[in-house]
Amino acid sequence: MKVPVMRADGLCKSFAIGGIQNHVLDRISTELYDGDFTVVMGPSGAGKSTLLYVLSGMDVPTDGKVWYREREIQNLKEKEMAGLRAKEFGFVFQQTHLVSNLTLLENVLAAGFLEKEKSEKEIRTRALKLLSRMNVEEAKDRLPSQVSGGEAQRAAIARAMIRKPGMIFADEPTGALNKKNTEEVLDLLAELNRDGQNILMVTHDVRAAIRATRLLYLEDGRIIGEMTLKPYRKEDGRSREKQVEAWLSSMEW
Ligand SMILES: Nc1ncnc2c1ncn2[C@@H]1O[C@H](COP(=O)(O)OP(=O)(O)OP(=O)(O)O)[C@@H](O)[C@H]1O
Ligand SMILES: [Mg+2]
Repeated sequence: MKVPVMRADGLCKSFAIGGIQNHVLDRISTELYDGDFTVVMGPSGAGKSTLLYVLSGMDVPTDGKVWYREREIQNLKEKEMAGLRAKEFGFVFQQTHLVSNLTLLENVLAAGFLEKEKSEKEIRTRALKLLSRMNVEEAKDRLPSQVSGGEAQRAAIARAMIRKPGMIFADEPTGALNKKNTEEVLDLLAELNRDGQNILMVTHDVRAAIRATRLLYLEDGRIIGEMTLKPYRKEDGRSREKQVEAWLSSMEW
């Protein structure tokens, strides 16, 4: 049986622009399950990023509720929310937001040191292991300006993973990468998911969507379609692409 890791109930988000309410999220109710690589697709302006922000507590809904496991996010005090976000959530964006005057390793360590319960040695060992897993070990002592976009993004994923988050939120993590780096980053994300990492990713890219185990299609702030897929295997890439493309065209993507 699938265990929900997050739940949204009647989520709404509106912005008032020039006195007119723009309903960006329109009563979204859904669950994200343990073990899933959930990918959200949909046209530009559909509300994908807003959904990710509201689920991760980076933004507050106008109405509705969000749970992370048994905790209702809206009921948490600011400090509890900050703790939850730091401990349980990892973030990856199109831009890496790495600290420019820290090396890749130092960037990962800095995020790890927020965890007071672990010793410096434990954190360093995990950081090095993650950087090696992300294939960026050789560049670990360089500054973000001295590495490629792909290397920087892989370091940003290592940083997001350092505290073993219960959920990684990724908003177009490959949006600024070339084709080769995109494939590499996507393969790494799929691999992390196969090892049990929960991921929620927003993307425009079919190549990214084929790695999903669950696809959600958002339009005008509503989930209008969803599909469950088997865990991704590289050798199924072609047939998977056809399957996802057919689904997307049924959504009139
Ligand atoms: N802070 C804000 N104030 C006003 N309107 C906003 C704000 N943030 C988002 N919007 C509007 O909400 C709608 C959805 O935005 P969102 O960024 O969630 O879309 P998206 O699906 O992620 O699009 P894209 O694929 O282009 O990234 C858009 O019309 C956007 O202009
Ligand atoms: Mg967006």
